[in-house]
Amino acid sequence: MNQEIKACIFDLDGVIVDTAKYHFTAWRNLANQLGFDFTEKDNEKLKGVSRVDSLNLILQWGGLNFSDNIKTELATDKNEDYLSYIQKMTAAEILPGVVPFLNELKELNIKIALGSASKNAVTILKQVGIIDYFEAIIDGTKVVNGKPHPEGFLMAASELGIVPANCLVFEDAPKGVQAALAAKMFVVGIGKEEDLGTAHFVMADFEKKKFKAIEEKLLSLTLR
Ligand code: G6P
Ligand code: MG
Repeated sequence: MNQEIKACIFDLDGVIVDTAKYHFTAWRNLANQLGFDFTEKDNEKLKGVSRVDSLNLILQWGGLNFSDNIKTELATDKNEDYLSYIQKMTAAEILPGVVPFLNELKELNIKIALGSASKNAVTILKQVGIIDYFEAIIDGTKVVNGKPHPEGFLMAASELGIVPANCLVFEDAPKGVQAALAAKMFVVGIGKEEDLGTAHFVMADFEKKKFKAIEEKLLSLTLR
């Protein structure tokens, strides 16, 4: 099998931009209005988890349950609050090294896609000014099955016309790493080894990272 890497698929939140802090603030505002609180550690469990599944988990932590109609209203309120932070974002909030890395991929003719659970992905990419790098954008408006299901990453590969074995995913969420492995793709974890140990390897961020060096390292490993 030809194992060279022809496409990179990026998760958004926590890989390209640090929006986790805005999700946390907006969900926490909602929980506080409902009379309970949760910690930043609890918030880790929401990474890569869809809006509705996040709401269900949070309500469970607060020991609350509501009808589907009320839950839709709560999720909408949270999203409006979240978007008020997003609308203030600038290119300065793109995580270190991401733009040089995307430029290197362009120069090397490696295809670039987004594979995110967020329904706000297009808004965020436009807001920070990097939407034009992405040849395919698979987000929460397009997938039925959330991570750890491989659907989103497989859709991204198919839209790019690249087979999964030639794709490399960058993910910061354990569920996202699982999804990429289930899609039979290479996966580099962005964050800490202790959280993302099942990835092919883990790096803290993209700062000073070269695609060619990453590819070489991955190709020396067997696809799991
Ligand atoms: C990403 C984030 C999650 C978020 C999900 C849905 O996966 O890591 O924390 O819940 O997207 O985001 P959305 O923007 O659609 O509410
Ligand atoms: Mg993420």
